[in-house]
Amino acid sequence: MTQLHTVVFPVAGRGTRLLPITKSVPKELLPVYDKPVLQFAVEEALDAGAKRLIFVTHASKTAIPNYLKPDNALKAALDGGGKTELLRALDDVSLDNTVEVIFVEQDSPLGLGHAVLLSAPHVTGSAFGVILPDDVILGTPCLTEMAAGYPGGHMIAAMKVSADDVSKYGIFDAVADGDQHQIFRANGLVEKPDSETAPSQLAAVGRYILDICVFDALRTLAPGAGGEYQLTDAIAADVGRVELNGFAFSGSRYDCGNHAGLLQAANARAAQVGQALVAE
Ligand code: G1P
Repeated sequence: MTQLHTVVFPVAGRGTRLLPITKSVPKELLPVYDKPVLQFAVEEALDAGAKRLIFVTHASKTAIPNYLKPDNALKAALDGGGKTELLRALDDVSLDNTVEVIFVEQDSPLGLGHAVLLSAPHVTGSAFGVILPDDVILGTPCLTEMAAGYPGGHMIAAMKVSADDVSKYGIFDAVADGDQHQIFRANGLVEKPDSETAPSQLAAVGRYILDICVFDALRTLAPGAGGEYQLTDAIAADVGRVELNGFAFSGSRYDCGNHAGLLQAANARAAQVGQALVAE
């Protein structure tokens, strides 16, 4: 299995689809039943063996570094008050000192490609992971499954979507049925195509293992869909240089960038921890 030393988390977005709460609370800290969205992403990176976590964030989102840093005073207070259960909840999310946490600021919303490029000075090794925390995946840790089957080059988690939904995703130019655990070769990737021109119904989901050559493509990238620098376009530009594979993951993915997705994820998480409170 490939050891992923570094994982990048783009978390600078404003989360406008979740207003009004995101006026003051970063979307990454909204709860999925018992833990914030970001916690699932961090745990997935650690499960894949990551030792360096890079958060590309915005200066206004101070709650994110506050969440990630240790709070020894709170720990001591819980300990002193004999609150063992609560102390355990805090310990469960504490990063041990073998894990390095780096924050990089993205001042302007110039796109996912721009966010990933900002992490370049801190990335070591020949490949690194990217997790988009909005895409919460429950079940088998997705990045770990990907690292286990990683053949080199660029690899992205994939799932089949309806024809109506292709315009919401990066879409693979590939022929595959999207069966779980399938690794399929792609000839390209297109960001948010319309349903008439989409090369397939195989969508990219927010888990990437990227060869570091992607930074060269990102440095010379022109703005793409929505006028933003798209990670998808840099990956597509590398096709022919390194292989591009999709990986049909086995967990369940929830789009926690919108209210309905957050609610579905919370329900699924509650069931996972044995607390099925809300009927589907
Ligand atoms: C991003 C990527 C897109 C991918 C999607 C997965 O889009 O640009 O290629 O399919 O995440 O969630 P966003 O949802 O940030 O617009």
